[in-house]
Amino acid sequence: MAIERDPVTGRLTTGHEWNGIKELDTPVPRPVYFFLVVTTLFCIGYWLLMPAWPLGTTFTRGLLGADERAHVTAAVAEAARDRAGWTARFERADFAAIQADPRLMAIMRETGRTLFGDNCAMCHGRDGAGGPGFPSLRRGTPLWGAAPEEIAETLRVGINSTHPESRVAQMPAFGRDGILKRAEIEAVAAYLRGLADPRLAAAPDAVAGAELFAGNCAACHGADGRGSRETGAPDLADETWIYGDGAQAVFNTIWNGRQGQMPSWEARLALWERRLLALYVADLRAQEPGSAQGSAQGSTR
Ligand code: HEC
Ligand code: HEC
Repeated sequence: MAIERDPVTGRLTTGHEWNGIKELDTPVPRPVYFFLVVTTLFCIGYWLLMPAWPLGTTFTRGLLGADERAHVTAAVAEAARDRAGWTARFERADFAAIQADPRLMAIMRETGRTLFGDNCAMCHGRDGAGGPGFPSLRRGTPLWGAAPEEIAETLRVGINSTHPESRVAQMPAFGRDGILKRAEIEAVAAYLRGLADPRLAAAPDAVAGAELFAGNCAACHGADGRGSRETGAPDLADETWIYGDGAQAVFNTIWNGRQGQMPSWEARLALWERRLLALYVADLRAQEPGSAQGSAQGSTR
C-alpha cells in the first residue's frame, strides 16, 4: 500500500488497493472547483443582500432592503394614478381634444369595447349594428345626432325613458286610433316604398300617399321624409330601418305606432364612462365604410 506512479497513464495512485486493483489519483477538474466556489460566494452574497432566511415570525431582511410587497404596492398605486389621470380627461376634456390624442383614443377603443359589451350589446348588438326594434349605431341617418355631444346627451337622458328630461319619440298609432283608414295607410306605405326606390314612386297608390304623407307625417318626418332630430323621427328614405322594411312591418308601425325605449344611463354609468361611450359610438360610425359623412349629413337637416 504505497503511492506509486501508474505506468500506463503516468498518474500517481492514491495508495488504495482492492484485490490488486489500484485507484488512480484523479482530482476533480479545476473548472468544477472554480464553479463551486463562485456559486457559494454568490449564495453568501445573496443571503447578505436580499431577504433570505425565515426566522420563525420574521426573516432576514438583507442589506439592500428589497421588498416585493412594496414593489407591487407602488406599481398598483402608479396604475391607479394613471387611471385617475385618464378617467379625469374623459370626464372633463373637450371631445375634440380627446379625439386629437392618440393615447386617449386607444384607451377609448379598448375600454369602450368592454363597456359597450357589458351595457349596450344586448340591445344594439355586439358590433352596434342593431336588430329588429333596435337602431343601428353604425349606419343610416342618426335619430338624435351622431356628434359625441349629442350621443352623450342621449345616453344621459335616454329615449322614452323614466328620466325627467328624456328624449321623446312617439310614432302615433294611425290605424288603431282611427286617424287613417286601412286604405290610406296602404297608400302612405306605398309612398314610402317610392321614397326608397324611385321606380315605385309613380305607382297610383304612391301618388295618393304623397298627399297623406304631407298632411299626417311630414310634421315629424320632414317634408322629404328624411327624419328630424327634434322629434327623433327616423329617416324613411335611407337604407336602415329600426323595425324592418317589409310591407307588414311598415304597415304595423303605421297602424300600431312605435315608442322604442332606450334607458337613461345617468344613474348607472359614471360621467366619464358615458362620455367615453359617446366617443366609442361616434367612432363606430366613423369607421363604417362610406359613412364618414354621417354627422355632416345629419347636421344639414
Ligand atoms: C334595453 C335596450 C337598450 C339598451 C341596453 C341600450 N339601448 Fe340604446 N337604444 C335602444 C333603443 C330601442 C333605441 C331607439 C329608440 C327609438 O326607437 O326611438 C336606442 C337608441 C340609442 C341611440 C340613439 C341613436 C341615434 O341614432 O340617435 C344611441 C346613441 C344609443 N341607443 C346608444 C346606446 C349605448 C351606448 C348603450 C349602452 C350604454 C345603449 N344604447 C343601450 C335600446 C337600448
Ligand atoms: C308625432 C311625430 C310623428 C308623426 C306625425 C309620424 N311619425 Fe313616424 N315615427 C315617429 C317617431 C318618433 C318614430 C320612431 C319611433 C321609435 O322608434 O321610437 C317613427 C317611426 C316611423 C317608422 C319606422 C321607421 C323604421 O326605421 O323602422 C315609420 C315607417 C313611420 N314612422 C312612418 C310614418 C308615417 C307613414 C307617418 C304618417 C302617417 C308617420 N310616421 C307620422 C314620429 C312620427
